[in-house]
Amino acid sequence: MNTQTLLPALLTLHLTGLILMAGTTVIDYVTFSTFWKQFQVNQTKSLVLLEATSKFARINGIGAALLILTGIGMMALTHGIFGEQLWFRIKFALVIIIILNALLVSRRQSLKLRKHITDTGSTALEEINKAKANLYRFYFSQFLLLFLVIFLSVFKFN
Ligand code: HEM
Repeated sequence: MNTQTLLPALLTLHLTGLILMAGTTVIDYVTFSTFWKQFQVNQTKSLVLLEATSKFARINGIGAALLILTGIGMMALTHGIFGEQLWFRIKFALVIIIILNALLVSRRQSLKLRKHITDTGSTALEEINKAKANLYRFYFSQFLLLFLVIFLSVFKFN
């Protein structure tokens, strides 16, 4: 396969990774919001929805891995030419923040929420509300960062 075929093939897989990552982030957010509505009505039933969100994390990770691997592949094929351009440098920094946001904020707060949601201790409610606010902040920032990365990748400002 020559470069002229391989580059668009990698870009297709890159965009597939984007669909998987952004798609599961949206679905995760919708399920998370539905969980809180259900939580006020029926606590036991609502836990099924919280459980479902853990399945999205795996697909989200596959999408992120696909984006990174195909991104590195495209960089190698183009001999790192994009690496010298401003849009790519900003994009790369934002991608690192997206990964840290998912690994440090989302993962940690989800574990905290799961730990305290069935807890009956006196500080449980406070911890639950803290994790809930942090997770809503995570979704908002992740959507904004993804939008900025797509915007930069399409317009390629230099
Ligand atoms: C959240 C992560 C990422 C998102 C949402 C994303 C999104 C995109 C999008 C939408 C394009 C298509 C632009 C177009 O053709 O108009 C693109 C192209 C590109 N991406 Fe990414 N990307 C991500 C991560 C990465 C990473 C980690 C790398 C490199 C290590 C990378 C390298 C590239 C390169 C080199 C292109 C240009 C390909 C070309 O025009 O020939 N991307 N990206």
